Amino acid sequence: MKVAVFVSGRGTNLQAILSSRQDNKKLDVSAVFSDKLDCPAFDIARRYSIPTFSLGNKEGCIIYRELSELLSNLKIEFIVLAGFLKLIPNDVVANFDKRIINIHPALLPSFGGKGMFGINVHKAVYESSVKVTGVTVHFVDSSYDTGKIIAQRCVDISDAVSPEDIAERVLKIEHQILPYVVNKFAENKIRIINDRVVVLD
Ligand code: GRF
Repeated sequence: MKVAVFVSGRGTNLQAILSSRQDNKKLDVSAVFSDKLDCPAFDIARRYSIPTFSLGNKEGCIIYRELSELLSNLKIEFIVLAGFLKLIPNDVVANFDKRIINIHPALLPSFGGKGMFGINVHKAVYESSVKVTGVTVHFVDSSYDTGKIIAQRCVDISDAVSPEDIAERVLKIEHQILPYVVNKFAENKIRIINDRVVVLD
């Protein structure tokens, strides 16, 4: 399965996917996209000889209007949003129905939606005083964080001392759940049964 990963900056989730790939020949990360001209995530991609593409209106970028055609030319079959902060064009979402996923650092539908990204999420979680948070991997539709949920994993934060403490605990789980889900897609082990997403063993 040819996968494009969309990143914004650090790329730790991209690294986690690439590290997990070794024992799954069905998973081919063949392109990395960002809304940045360059970023640490691109350094990771280059270490694996994976082509990188910048999206935007600046010189050297691919404009969003051309994204759909580029993905088709690259023969991309699946898209993973791992930190990408811009909305994906509607034509791409439509072309990749149930083949584009996002990872969100909280238990959706709580603490999601426009503006809820990065440390903003963990600040809201911390200030709410909830005792459990976690990670959600979900299908992407045409708005922020609202697609059908595929997988979630939670973490006890009853003893959390700061939003940064929560972010650190959640990121560790992200690095487990996202590669797990992406590999399951590559093995064709994700189903929608009676309107719910089922991950097969
Ligand atoms: C992660 O926390 C993810 O939940 C969110 O963006 C962040 C990306 O981090 N969507 P990284 O670039 O993978 O380190």
